[in-house]
Amino acid sequence: MNLLITGGAGFIGSHFTLRHCKANPRDTVVVLDKLTYAADKTLLDPVAGMMTFVEGDIADQALVGRIVEDFKIDTIINFAAESHVDNSINDATPFLHTNVIGTQALLEVVKTHPKVRLLHISTDEVFGDIDDAMAPCKSGDALFPSSPYAASKAAAEMLVMAAMRTFRIHACITRCTNNYGPHQAAEKFIPTVIRHALKDEKIPVYGDGRNKRDWLYVTDHCDALETIIATPWAFWDPKVPSTNPRHEPGSGHIFHVSANEEQENIAVAKMILDILGKPHSLLSYVEDRLGHDWRYALDSENTRKLGWKPKVSFEEGLKQTVEWYRAKRV
Ligand SMILES: NC(=O)c1ccc[n+]([C@@H]2O[C@H](COP(=O)([O-])OP(=O)(O)OC[C@H]3O[C@@H](n4cnc5c(N)ncnc54)[C@H](O)[C@@H]3O)[C@@H](O)[C@H]2O)c1
Repeated sequence: MNLLITGGAGFIGSHFTLRHCKANPRDTVVVLDKLTYAADKTLLDPVAGMMTFVEGDIADQALVGRIVEDFKIDTIINFAAESHVDNSINDATPFLHTNVIGTQALLEVVKTHPKVRLLHISTDEVFGDIDDAMAPCKSGDALFPSSPYAASKAAAEMLVMAAMRTFRIHACITRCTNNYGPHQAAEKFIPTVIRHALKDEKIPVYGDGRNKRDWLYVTDHCDALETIIATPWAFWDPKVPSTNPRHEPGSGHIFHVSANEEQENIAVAKMILDILGKPHSLLSYVEDRLGHDWRYALDSENTRKLGWKPKVSFEEGLKQTVEWYRAKRV
């Protein structure tokens, strides 16, 4: 494969790039990343000789077009995004630029390079929250995004779906639950808890801490993406007969990735404190996030049918994550 990985210097993209380059040394890999505050290019050092790094913006259509042509790219995986909900509540503008305009720029390039496949990474947050009694969301369920971040991701998905139908591009969308693991930006929930706990500082927990998230270890997510890119019919293609009954540009090409590891935020914070041997009295309840979603959960049956399943339990993954941050002395 000749792969363009956008946002490859971020949390999930860096894991994917490292694993893909090591497992597929003969592939051509190009990483395009704007190097925002969320990026850390040094994470890619171990594979520096196995890929090409380009600093730039996915919204720069001419640049993306040049990369696709120069490196004969056949598959784009779009991790690039503004991804922190709190930042989107403060100012949604960068979210619209990267998540919406940036995705459309990629689509414009794919439109004119019809052999190129696009895997677009989205999120469970596009559904908004569900209550405790509700079943996990399926790929065809209605979207009710709550935050400007989630709304921008929903808009990006709609543009991808529209391009599948109107321009017959080869694309698919994956939605995943909350990822965790090494390399995550300090502002996210699990790194925040670890960072404050290591310094014996008060740990801010929104509301009563009982909001639930379904946690997915980042390498399990990367494995799911590898499974999907190795499945030709996962990408919509009008010419390929399929066994998928929903093989229409639409929900048949949206894959859910989740590990069924739902935890209340407060329980996660307490587990981290226990791993670090720190007292629960460090927990400090703070005013709830505006529009804070109660619970997300995804039904990942369609991805599991491709042969993927998560390998890392929440307990094990959390221990590995804490150890990574402890060693890094965040
Ligand atoms: N982390 C999660 O728990 C989670 C959950 C569900 C979905 N997702 C989705 O997965 C994808 C990756 O998330 P992440 O946590 O790794 O994000 P991240 O914030 O850690 O990394 C995003 C990367 O994109 C780059 N980037 C931002 N704007 C860019 C632009 N205009 N052009 C090129 N590069 C740009 C940043 O520099 C950074 O390296 C995102 O699309 C996000 O919405 C993440």
